[in-house]
Amino acid sequence: MQDIDACVFDAYGTLFDVAAAAAHCREDLGDKADALSALWRSKQLEYTWLRSLMGEYVDFYQVTCDGLDYALETLGLDGDTALREKLQALYLKLDCYAEVPAMLKALNAGGLKCAILSNGSPKMLASAVENAGIADDLVDNYSVDQLGVYKPTPRVYQMAVDGLNVPRERICFMSSNAWDASAAANFGFRVVWVNRFGQKKERLPGTPEHEIKNLSELPPLLGL
Ligand code: LAC
Repeated sequence: MQDIDACVFDAYGTLFDVAAAAAHCREDLGDKADALSALWRSKQLEYTWLRSLMGEYVDFYQVTCDGLDYALETLGLDGDTALREKLQALYLKLDCYAEVPAMLKALNAGGLKCAILSNGSPKMLASAVENAGIADDLVDNYSVDQLGVYKPTPRVYQMAVDGLNVPRERICFMSSNAWDASAAANFGFRVVWVNRFGQKKERLPGTPEHEIKNLSELPPLLGL
């Protein structure tokens, strides 16, 4: 990919492993860990879309807790308040994917500005970035919280254009969430879909320019 000045990353699922919270509670969750993790994530995302349509924004931490409560109740685990608190706390310190720190260093060494653009609240993003030790490699974390509406509204993607002062066609955007990758491409970013989970293509407007399996493939794609 050529003519790129900045790399902008989705946070959850792309830099940070959303399954890590339940994975760290496998002893408590037993064989329900994977089901809890999947339902928690899908409800969390549904609530962002539904609340945006309803004009009823609450921040991503609240939406995350609501999705967790729905998933815990569905799996018959809603009586366990200690488990709930443990999962909530773990979500603020999700592991980053193993290749992320070195990948960010390579992009920075190549002179590319790197930033996050996420549904996450500023507090959640600051905590995750700090925990992963990648703060020095990011110029900013752009959060939908300043708009009060969630992805994939185009105004969210515009935040990175305005914040970085880089035109959309010179921004390379990475997401593992196929719907986010489609929407960002439709907005006019140059998009690399990080298809970590071998998902099928979304039937939505906007086509990513490239598909990779994980972020270690990004620096070579950018000629670094
Ligand atoms: C985010 C969600 C979409 O970080 O993963 O914005």
